[in-house]
Amino acid sequence: MSDIGEREAALPLETRPAATRKVFVKTYGCQMNVYDSQRMSDALAADGYAATDAIEDADLVLLNTCHIREKAAEKVYSELGRIRKLKAERQQAGREMMIGVAGCVAQAEGQEIIRRSSAVDLVIGPQTYHRLPEVVRKAREGEKVVETDYAIEDKFEHLPQPRRAEVIKRGVTAFLTVQEGCDKFCTFCVVPYTRGSEVSRPVSQILAEAERLAEAGVREVTLLGQNVNAWHGEGPDGKPWGLGRLLHRLAEIPGFARLRYTTSHPRDMDDELISAHRDLDALMPYLHLPVQAGSDRILKAMNRRHTGADYLRLIERIRAARPDIAMSGDFIVGFPGETEADFEDTLAIVREVRYAQAFSFKYSPRPGTPGADMRDHIAEEIKDERLQRLQALLNKQQREFTESLVGKTMSTLIEKPGRHAGQRVGRSPWLQPVIVDEKAGGIGDVVTVRITGAGTNSLYAQAV
Ligand code: SAH
Ligand code: SF4
Ligand code: F3S
Repeated sequence: MSDIGEREAALPLETRPAATRKVFVKTYGCQMNVYDSQRMSDALAADGYAATDAIEDADLVLLNTCHIREKAAEKVYSELGRIRKLKAERQQAGREMMIGVAGCVAQAEGQEIIRRSSAVDLVIGPQTYHRLPEVVRKAREGEKVVETDYAIEDKFEHLPQPRRAEVIKRGVTAFLTVQEGCDKFCTFCVVPYTRGSEVSRPVSQILAEAERLAEAGVREVTLLGQNVNAWHGEGPDGKPWGLGRLLHRLAEIPGFARLRYTTSHPRDMDDELISAHRDLDALMPYLHLPVQAGSDRILKAMNRRHTGADYLRLIERIRAARPDIAMSGDFIVGFPGETEADFEDTLAIVREVRYAQAFSFKYSPRPGTPGADMRDHIAEEIKDERLQRLQALLNKQQREFTESLVGKTMSTLIEKPGRHAGQRVGRSPWLQPVIVDEKAGGIGDVVTVRITGAGTNSLYAQAV
């Protein structure tokens, strides 16, 4: 789960003349929410709702929310305030605008959302998205619906498969959730409460969805899970499979040129997964492996169940298997009780690992988590100051990594047209956008390029 937090994505406009109503979906939070929004859209399409990217045209507005930090959760209420006005305007014109809240805030707050914002018509938690069409129908009949029970049935089995036309429109890269939920209970984190306990999707279901994506022209798949490397299942051979084995099987699907997975927990990096990084060309040399902090005392208080040294040893083994692997991570500064010396340990780990990319956050106490009740909360100014120092170091490492790619030859997956005529935008193995001439190749091609320059976020390249 990189890119957590403030990312928002409205789903693209879909033209379906047969559809009578329109839905606008806004997504907050992690990639799992992006995937879920697509699946909710797919489920609603089967019920006659076409997706729109113009909120004022929507008969149904769905906010797919994130609860990870206070700021993320509060954003939902300010957005609801704005939408409430649009709803009143539409109602005055004799049209409907149902408002739904989905995602992790829905799961965590349930009924409370309707109490705080009476314009909301339905609240639905991540475990019950397969019931969305039914929930919307009930809400349209005038009932305020709150659907946040953990469903016993498997939602994935009841959700429609991704639609071919939509997959094509979304491009040559796709997300595929293989695992949901978390049993790790880090003391700062709401995910085990909002997403429930760890569940792995069965191999057959994953393969069926993967084949469908491949048939629609997808070239790169990112497997998703809150703890994706905790995924396990039973293979068609009757043997227990881990993520490493699953990646080997997915690499056999014709059409898939690139595989990625995120987010991993250090405790679930097993030997098979590490050797997949050595043996599979399709598995991209990039790993998001959050450590959160460098001090063993703080790691213990966080219930991470690994030390700083465990993490460094693990990275050594991964780099031995795949020397060109780029590391990415998540960090929290100002966890309760964090001293200056503890924080220096975080900086020391960062210096040791050398990250290509990273996400860092100020600790945000979350209701219901053990961290919120701990003593010695850190003052906001100290958190600010530590975050600044950490980010200065991480930004420097990111720049150094990007600059180190100049002059190198590498594969690039061409993803979309560029902003300027005659250009295309591809993606390096290490996730940087790569700007190339359109003669380098068509969308969906994997081409070899030489990097000629580096900007702040992107690389410039020539085909070789
Ligand atoms: N499952 C993933 C991460 C899930 S949440 C993992 O275990 O690594 C994504 C990131 O948000 C976390 O890695 C953490 O850095 C950050 N985060 C989670 N809870 C937080 C909190 N209460 N305050 C600040 N950052 C938090
Ligand atoms: Fe949250 Fe920890 Fe689970 Fe990651 S492993 S989702 S940080 S509880
Ligand atoms: Fe946020 Fe839920 Fe993802 S809390 S980070 S949307 S799992």
